[in-house]
Amino acid sequence: DAVELGRFEHYMRKEIHEQPNTVRDALRGRLRLAEASAQFGGLNLTARQLRRVRRVVFAACGTSWHAALLGEHYIEKLAHLPAEVEYASEFRYRNAPLDDQTLFFVLSQSGETADTLGALREARRRGFPTLAIVNTVGSTIAREADGGVYLHAGPEIGVASTKAFTSQLVVLALLALHLGRLRHLSYDEGRRLIAALEELPDQIERVLAIEPQVEEAAHRMVQATSALYLGRDLNFPIALEGALKLKEISYLHAEGYPTAEMKHGPIALIDPATPSVFVAPRGGLHAKTLGNIEEVRARKGPVLAVGTQGDDQLARLVDQMLPIPEAHPLTQPILACVPLQLLAYHVARLKGCDIDKPRNLAKSVTVE
Ligand code: G6P
Repeated sequence: DAVELGRFEHYMRKEIHEQPNTVRDALRGRLRLAEASAQFGGLNLTARQLRRVRRVVFAACGTSWHAALLGEHYIEKLAHLPAEVEYASEFRYRNAPLDDQTLFFVLSQSGETADTLGALREARRRGFPTLAIVNTVGSTIAREADGGVYLHAGPEIGVASTKAFTSQLVVLALLALHLGRLRHLSYDEGRRLIAALEELPDQIERVLAIEPQVEEAAHRMVQATSALYLGRDLNFPIALEGALKLKEISYLHAEGYPTAEMKHGPIALIDPATPSVFVAPRGGLHAKTLGNIEEVRARKGPVLAVGTQGDDQLARLVDQMLPIPEAHPLTQPILACVPLQLLAYHVARLKGCDIDKPRNLAKSVTVE
């Protein structure tokens, strides 16, 4: 183990730092530059079959469920198809309608999560083809699905999922690109997204370089007993995932919320001891987000923000801004999650928690 950990104290931090490479591996061999599209060896579906699709349904648990939430945005934005995200544990018992024009995916890092496997088996039992986005090669879900996509992220040991999450996002973006290019998405838009995806490894490298700033931010959080994570649109799933990471390994209570929903309840929690973490890169609705931050400030709530490098207006408004590079609107959330992974890690480290073996959690949950 020590050898594998190399210069890192914990697998979680090692895996966070592997992300430039794991993102590169998720992209490898899957870009079709000439057509500004993507390809997947294992999907087992022809272009003709994919053109018939009218709806996409994802079922997953935990961090994989958060990835699917971003997948829903990608599919809607690039392919203009309705997409739904189900908790695997709920889907199984709901008799949720599926039909032969629906693409049904399960997402699982381990490929062994009992509820996700149950959802896949339920769909099969009802006679629908199943697809899986999985990291672990040869896992039960990978074997039982009719087709699918591997993440190629390598073994993830840290119980709190990090590199598998960013790889899931990359694969979902490629999938949406592929479905989009079979429909109305223009060649130029496809090429712009491909260029943005290819830039990701270097951009993630730049985000990892701000780790000392994230450590400073962790010092601001460590005394808190509760925190709010807020994000809009594509950054809402990132807020949920940031909050989950913090809960899982630092045992600090955190809640993820859509930024504008804050005023419908969570704002009651704001006080000088309750930090808010805004996922607020520049882009649509930024002015409204700045207004929401002012509301928190007016109630003396401490504010951290993940923002676009050079956004002085945001930096002036918050206690500390964690900068990420300017990026394509669809890849920006992938960058925004990295400082939040590091933030959870450093808060947990300051609290002396057992980061790679958090209490009560298992890497893969094989009970229902
Ligand atoms: C467990 C892990 C989480 C993970 C979830 C789903 O709860 O602790 O980190 O997100 O299972 O796992 P999967 O392997 O299906 O993605």
